[in-house]
Amino acid sequence: MPRVTTKELFAKALEGKYAIGAFNVNNMELLQGIVEACEEEKAPLILQISKGARAYANPVYLMKLIEAAIELTSVPIAIHLDHGDSYELCKQCIDEGFTSVMIDGSHLPYEENVALTKKVVDYAHQRDCVVEAELGQLVGAQFDEGEEGGSFSKSGLYTDPDQAVDFVKKTGCDSLAVAIGNSHGAYKFPGAAKLDLERLQRIKQALVEAGLGDYPLVLHGASSVPQHLAEEINKYGGKLGQTSGVPEEDIEKARKMGCAKVNIDTDLRLAFTAGIRKSFAEKPENFDPRKYLGPARAMVKELVRHKVRDVVCCAGHAFD
Ligand code: G3H
Ligand code: 13P
Ligand code: ZN
Repeated sequence: MPRVTTKELFAKALEGKYAIGAFNVNNMELLQGIVEACEEEKAPLILQISKGARAYANPVYLMKLIEAAIELTSVPIAIHLDHGDSYELCKQCIDEGFTSVMIDGSHLPYEENVALTKKVVDYAHQRDCVVEAELGQLVGAQFDEGEEGGSFSKSGLYTDPDQAVDFVKKTGCDSLAVAIGNSHGAYKFPGAAKLDLERLQRIKQALVEAGLGDYPLVLHGASSVPQHLAEEINKYGGKLGQTSGVPEEDIEKARKMGCAKVNIDTDLRLAFTAGIRKSFAEKPENFDPRKYLGPARAMVKELVRHKVRDVVCCAGHAFD
């Protein structure tokens, strides 16, 4: 199956009221776990790569690994840049063959976010690439603190529905990441989980009323942080604090309200780490990396299977 853009995946997802899981890739085992689960479940897939992943693994290695996945797999796969922080990085990824890029100008003043996003859209659209943008700010650090281009918003800066309409019209971006109390990482809510789903509904409605149709919205920070994984990590020597994620029921509501893309990274990290820690604890005499990376990869695969079957519900929709 050739690589696809998210445009075609989103149109079908919105129609079918399911979402596409966008999973972060940093190494071969994570990629294999994700892709094997989606292949078996016949789930369309977005593989996303952050600036940090590119720095860690080298962009060439990552792209060659993804090309291998595409060659060995039948389900449609979009290759997406996660949180691109500059025009130059987006341009580089478009030139490398990404089918989708995110330009994250959410930390910039509004007009600067518009101008930067529009510049990326103009370049991308001439090259069959689509663009995700972000308006509003997620809760907490958007990037690692101190990282260039980072921003910090203690309580988040929620997306305004009317501004979202203006933003989409001015930039021509293909999908929009919203800030509705969502955040990255394993410590999302100090108390009860709280996403402003009513605001999400209003954003969607405003876009429809403005004539932009069933416009695809994106939910970042959509890991549910399963407690059994956090417990497993701690049982085998980890030191996680009081973790919390987005309840799966909230993802279901968001998907039904038109979030076509659901971003998951933290849960992959938890599954992978739990698998490695368990192997280390149970077989301390082992020093063959395949014997601990293999079980970790299997944990990632089962996690992704659960996500595509029961959370974003795109399983069985690969060939819609
Ligand atoms: O949104 C952030 C993603 O989880 C990527 O994280 O920048 O550490 O690769 P990263
Ligand atoms: P999580 O940290 O909730 O997995 O979110 C990942 C994400 O939004 C990547 O862009
Ligand atoms: Zn994100």
